[in-house]
Amino acid sequence: MSARTVDPAHFTSQVQVFIQSDDGLERNEVLPTGAPISIGRHQSCVLRLDSDLVSRQHCVVEVAPDFIRIEDVSTNGTMAGDMLLRRQAVDMPYGTPIVCGNFTVYFLNPQMAQAASPHQGSGARRNPGMPMEMPSPHMGGMGGMQPGMGAMGNMGMGMQPGMGGMGGMQPGMGGMQPGMGGMQPGMGGMQPGMGGMPGMPRPPTHGHGGMVPTSPQGQPRAQHAQQIQGQHGAQITTPEMIAKREKDVGLRRQIHKLLLEHLDLATLDASKLDDPSMRPKVLGALRRIVGQLDTQIPPEVERDLLIGELADEALGLGPLERFIADPSISEIMVVDPNTIYIERGGKLVLSETRFTDDDRVRSVIERIVTPLGRRIDESSPLVDARLKDGSRVNAVIKPLALRGSCITIRKFAKTPLTLDKLIGFGALTAPMAQFLTRSVIAKKNIVISGGTGSGKTTLLNVLSGAIPSEERIVTIEDAAELQLSQPHVVSLETRPANLEGKGEYTIRDLVKNSLRMRPDRIVVGECRGGEALDMLQAMNTGHDGSLTTTHANSPVEAIARIETLVLMGGIELPVRAIRDQIAGAVHLIVQQTRFADGSRRVSAISEVTGVGDEGTIEMRPIFEFIRTGTDAKGKVVGDFRATGYLPSYLNDFIVMGLVKRGEKYL
Ligand SMILES: Nc1ncnc2c1ncn2[C@@H]1O[C@H](COP(=O)(O)OP(=O)(O)OP(=O)(O)O)[C@@H](O)[C@H]1O
Ligand SMILES: [Mg+2]
Repeated sequence: MSARTVDPAHFTSQVQVFIQSDDGLERNEVLPTGAPISIGRHQSCVLRLDSDLVSRQHCVVEVAPDFIRIEDVSTNGTMAGDMLLRRQAVDMPYGTPIVCGNFTVYFLNPQMAQAASPHQGSGARRNPGMPMEMPSPHMGGMGGMQPGMGAMGNMGMGMQPGMGGMGGMQPGMGGMQPGMGGMQPGMGGMQPGMGGMPGMPRPPTHGHGGMVPTSPQGQPRAQHAQQIQGQHGAQITTPEMIAKREKDVGLRRQIHKLLLEHLDLATLDASKLDDPSMRPKVLGALRRIVGQLDTQIPPEVERDLLIGELADEALGLGPLERFIADPSISEIMVVDPNTIYIERGGKLVLSETRFTDDDRVRSVIERIVTPLGRRIDESSPLVDARLKDGSRVNAVIKPLALRGSCITIRKFAKTPLTLDKLIGFGALTAPMAQFLTRSVIAKKNIVISGGTGSGKTTLLNVLSGAIPSEERIVTIEDAAELQLSQPHVVSLETRPANLEGKGEYTIRDLVKNSLRMRPDRIVVGECRGGEALDMLQAMNTGHDGSLTTTHANSPVEAIARIETLVLMGGIELPVRAIRDQIAGAVHLIVQQTRFADGSRRVSAISEVTGVGDEGTIEMRPIFEFIRTGTDAKGKVVGDFRATGYLPSYLNDFIVMGLVKRGEKYL
């Protein structure tokens, strides 16, 4: 691999920087680039950010012709783009927002900045003593740390013990290409389909590829120590490394135990752990404990970093907290304490965050479920819950989860997607959206079909939005996700059995009950059991305009699935009768698909036209997405096409005044 070095002297001597503070103040500075640019509160910093939220030395930025290298040297970490750096360095394109406390700093492209304002006054200081050529003391081999110290200081960031201390990236390897953020080809470590997507920044993934640990001599450590490719392509390290990690975990556990004793956290009401006032108390206690254990903690371990990470784990949702706060992340999946995936921009990415051990994952789960009066233990090892913000959580622990406790969080969209936004994303076209809206207003029964996470609930929410506001809507869901803005909505949510196994209310119970509530519309989050029968019966007996979703990969599969679900309803009906019921009840199947590039689209809208002579349900596609290829960046390319088939109920649109004279039908 060719070496990538930062050699600022070759291209420019100044760089323009734009600084924004959270309270809205903005300023520009022109800084000298002859040496690494230190950013921090201390007056010796080249770029001074005067705030208590900024560390004395927060980060160091080095500029190269086509990228900048950002290294965190702070107590609380530096955000580079959407990555939280902790004592790590990363290469990023110009313009990447660098968040230091309450400031965001942007380095502007030198060529452009030079053209615009070659020699503005800067007020910046030069640091002639620093070497001009890389590797600098920060980047070369050691990453600014002593061998072995990363074992403690970086655990929370997913470093392998023993590896972390040896630093960020090998000089010149960069780990990330500017503008690409992903791994360089051949650096490996990620599963196929997990990324390397151009334009998508990827966190530094120590131990999972991405950055290459180096020996003190700057040699790739793999040449010295035997490393085995493990699950997810993660590098499982040598027994020496494992022993170091175990020692670290042991120390962290000991500190955590002392913390519990100190604060009596175990007896505290779980909701108090979310209280912001707890953090200073926990930090204070941790400082005292770490002070007492000083002799047991290796001297090279960054005390502040360790304290910060332990506080994160003790409070709220621990290391998941920052994913919850990050609006660009839509899903969080804890596979085991060392493996946490996140979904960003439709793509699953392995994050660099980890938990100390399974106990810490368990306590996060407990912090979620206990306030809801629920329990998770060996006798009831799986639980569905919701966070306070409405995000959907599923947790599974041992013995069902073999590798350790799993958490899956589908984050609640604070501003739900709208039809216009979906059109904007290219998830469907305006004529398709108009046709679906008219079908909803005309009280057609619609089933949205799709795979897991394909966007069914999102589309259900959007289509439900088209229900006229004077109608009475009853929504029924397992975990209330729908956000309807109509004034007359009754929202029902299922309830699991209590600790004695009683008091369970299923979707089916609620569907049956809703029929007695005189609804104009019934919107059911998902049909996955006998409720399909009740829904069909309701649709066939005057409750038109019902909407639901089901789990299937094509409209044909969706019909087969509904057939199966009706059979689960427990009524002995001949297949032909079931099919007649389905064909009589369901007007439209809307297929939602998540493609390999992470994009989600309405891939088909089909009308159910009846039961054919052979006794099979017949459907006619009205719109289809035809995939024609894949572009250079791996994005799915294709067109939405109207098939030319006009739905049988077009006349309803005309009668209801939904299609005006001279307007297009579709
Ligand atoms: N057309 C779209 N374009 C981009 N993102 C989308 C689109 N539709 C849905 N999403 C996002 O995809 C994620 C999954 O969506 P949603 O919850 O609707 O899927 P689902 O099929 O109901 O999933 P599940 O099977 O788990 O219930 C959400 O984060 C949502 O915001
Ligand atoms: Mg859903």
